[in-house]
Amino acid sequence: MAASDPWLKLGLKKRHCLKTFSVPFRETYLARSGREIAGLVVIAMYGTFRGYIQSLFVAPAFRGQGLGEELMNFAEGKIFARSPNVFLCVSSFNKGAQRFYRRLGYKRAGVITDFFEKGSDELLLRKTVGPLRSFSPRRKKHGKR
Ligand SMILES: CC(C)(COP(=O)(O)OP(=O)(O)OC[C@H]1O[C@@H](n2cnc3c(N)ncnc32)[C@H](O)[C@@H]1OP(=O)(O)O)[C@@H](O)C(=O)NCCC(=O)NCCS
Repeated sequence: MAASDPWLKLGLKKRHCLKTFSVPFRETYLARSGREIAGLVVIAMYGTFRGYIQSLFVAPAFRGQGLGEELMNFAEGKIFARSPNVFLCVSSFNKGAQRFYRRLGYKRAGVITDFFEKGSDELLLRKTVGPLRSFSPRRKKHGKR
């Protein structure tokens, strides 16, 4: 991650990336190819923006083969079982990722201006299955019969 945009462009180092995984209430899911990590998605399930995709990353050698979409489908399955919204931020300069999210049905919910540095905005995107009030989470199964 630290060697790839958008983290590289944002000046985020390995230690910042590692922090992504150590914060409580976040869930990290890995896609593996043999012993190699091909991609990952980190979701946060707390607060007003629960269902927030903190990080999505596909290693350069595995890009453009549908893995990013597969990771998003997986994350959406996890989130929509518990909440009607998926939120995420994408940097204003990350046009490829913006196209990718648009194709998956994400709509712009807001703009956070000058977030990391002046002139670099973060676009808040959202995909929803409906309002909070009419949402009923899927029940968890407790144990096997
Ligand atoms: C964005 C990302 C997760 C997409 O993963 P992927 O496995 O390449 O995605 P898919 O194969 O399912 O879909 C490919 C689409 O992603 C777009 N894309 C965005 N950035 C890309 C990149 N660096 N390389 C290849 N495709 C990229 C392609 O344009 C393509 O769209 P198209 O089919 O309309 O041409 C991946 O490119 C990535 O990890 N990029 C760097 C990290 C990043 O930007 N993460 C999102 C931060 S909000």
